[in-house]
Amino acid sequence: MTKTLLITGASSGIGAETARAAVASGWNVALVARSADKLDALAKELGDAAIAIKADVTELSQIEDAVAKTVEKFGGLDAAFANAGKGLDTPGTEQGDPEEWRTLVDLNIMGLLYTTRAALPELRKTKGHLVLTGSAAGRNHIKGSIYGATKWFVHGYGGNMSAEMREWGGRCTVVSPGMVDTPFFDEPKPDKIQPEDVGNAVVYALNQNPRAELREIHIMPTG
Ligand SMILES: NC(=O)c1ccc[n+]([C@@H]2O[C@H](COP(=O)([O-])OP(=O)(O)OC[C@H]3O[C@@H](n4cnc5c(N)ncnc54)[C@H](OP(=O)(O)O)[C@@H]3O)[C@@H](O)[C@H]2O)c1
Repeated sequence: MTKTLLITGASSGIGAETARAAVASGWNVALVARSADKLDALAKELGDAAIAIKADVTELSQIEDAVAKTVEKFGGLDAAFANAGKGLDTPGTEQGDPEEWRTLVDLNIMGLLYTTRAALPELRKTKGHLVLTGSAAGRNHIKGSIYGATKWFVHGYGGNMSAEMREWGGRCTVVSPGMVDTPFFDEPKPDKIQPEDVGNAVVYALNQNPRAELREIHIMPTG
């Protein structure tokens, strides 16, 4: 039976390219983000294997609804990719904007937790797979980086979820890219990792034999 993957942050960058790679590999995908126009265009491109679901992952009820719609459409959930995330316009603890920190934490930490909470009951039924987008900035210390600290949370939490999910045959993978050429940055980064490189790596982890849990995929640009 065709497996189903829910992706947050699917309207752009890593999430959109993971959706393309997953469908090419035989998965159904539920595309979740706030930009309905972009999600609809991608779902149209991907055809019957895709459903577009507008949701803000910083609202628990919205991601819960998205999971319910996914299960209703495709009959179950085999994997969830909590990928939506953002950076900061103004870095630094002294210079930074505390209100901007709150939106960062709401998305990069709370949104990831809400996505996991909404998906876990369904993943337990399928012995499913949780994938989280960490970062090279979540495994190396970068001076003063508050964004990086939110990604350290992701790496710590991902390891803890591996320990929990293995009890019922589930798996958790943290994907930790270095710089990826996406709208995350204002300027193009053509010599860095392309988002399809990360998408391919995520699908590689998903397609492993269930006995094998790729706990982390760390992917860096050569350029
Ligand atoms: N680019 C890099 O160099 C890099 C490196 C390491 C890790 N990462 C991480 O990779 C992940 C994806 O980033 P990207 O590079 O692909 O950037 P991106 O192209 O800016 O994608 C961010 C995605 O998150 C979605 N999003 C933002 N706020 C949301 C919300 N409240 N609810 C639902 N979706 C929301 C955006 O869609 P809407 O605006 O339509 O909601 C968009 O689809 C992030 O977690 C980022 O921290 C990026």
